[in-house]
Amino acid sequence: MSLPNPLDMFDVKGKVALITGASGAFGAVAARVLAGAGCRLVLAAGKASELAAIAAECRAGGAEVVEVNTRPDSETACTALVAAAVAAFGGLDILVVASGMNKVAKIDDMAPETFLAVMDANVTQSWLLARAATVQMKAHGRGGKIVLVSSARGLLGHPAGYTAYCASKAAVDGMTKALGCELGPTGITVNAIAPTVFRSPLTAWMFDDTDNAKAVRAGFLARVPKGRLGEPEDLAGPLLFLASRASDFYTGHILYADGGYTAG
Ligand SMILES: NC(=O)c1ccc[n+]([C@@H]2O[C@H](COP(=O)([O-])OP(=O)(O)OC[C@H]3O[C@@H](n4cnc5c(N)ncnc54)[C@H](OP(=O)(O)O)[C@@H]3O)[C@@H](O)[C@H]2O)c1
Repeated sequence: MSLPNPLDMFDVKGKVALITGASGAFGAVAARVLAGAGCRLVLAAGKASELAAIAAECRAGGAEVVEVNTRPDSETACTALVAAAVAAFGGLDILVVASGMNKVAKIDDMAPETFLAVMDANVTQSWLLARAATVQMKAHGRGGKIVLVSSARGLLGHPAGYTAYCASKAAVDGMTKALGCELGPTGITVNAIAPTVFRSPLTAWMFDDTDNAKAVRAGFLARVPKGRLGEPEDLAGPLLFLASRASDFYTGHILYADGGYTAG
């Protein structure tokens, strides 16, 4: 007698995934993970050359990939991205919102336009993408997986000019919970991965050898039980979990990818 293979729960072969921010650190890892696991991909980003590079890498690994050179910065763009998945592959099973950004400034130095730009990139665009994906996933009736990206800064404040970023990620947490509740009976799960610091263009300065970076890093690491900063690959396991039926009973959940930072 052979036992059922529990790894089958993580099988996403043939699923159709849309990843925004595919030019970025997390977006590229999400593309590699889901392509490697056999998904068909729609990759979206504004930076054409980085987008082409990750698309080529996934294709070289055998994945079917459509690239759309756009940011999800309007209702039209978000609807078009979902439509691209339907046109190319007949539906959409997984949405990964890996686009987002931060602008750091003390509140008295931050222009209101900057605050609104951070809220737009992190909150409004997540909402528009989740909305467009929900319409398609409900119409198709085969469930779906929506994975947003929050941050430990959705839970915790930060003294260095993070009012916009913290507010935006707290809003992503609220959206994740509310939409998880709303879509509970539909078979669509909604969850967020919430990292602390992992290596990316957003955080590159923290990995530097400058005295300032060393001091900031030491202060930060003193609070990270795992004793190191993150790498984009640290998000791979949580992503596969949240994108697969292994997480079918999990919705409205914020999964901290943080080396234990928020535990202490
Ligand atoms: N790195 C960390 O330590 C960390 C920690 C916690 C949370 N996060 C979150 O993880 C997500 C991915 O971050 P990352 O570290 O992978 O950063 P990243 O490498 O900069 O990737 C983010 C991507 O988002 C796109 N983007 C930038 N500004 C945008 C805007 N205004 N509107 C729409 N898209 C925009 C960019 O793609 P295009 O320019 O090609 O469109 C960029 O490649 C973000 O939501 C970030 O807040 C990161």
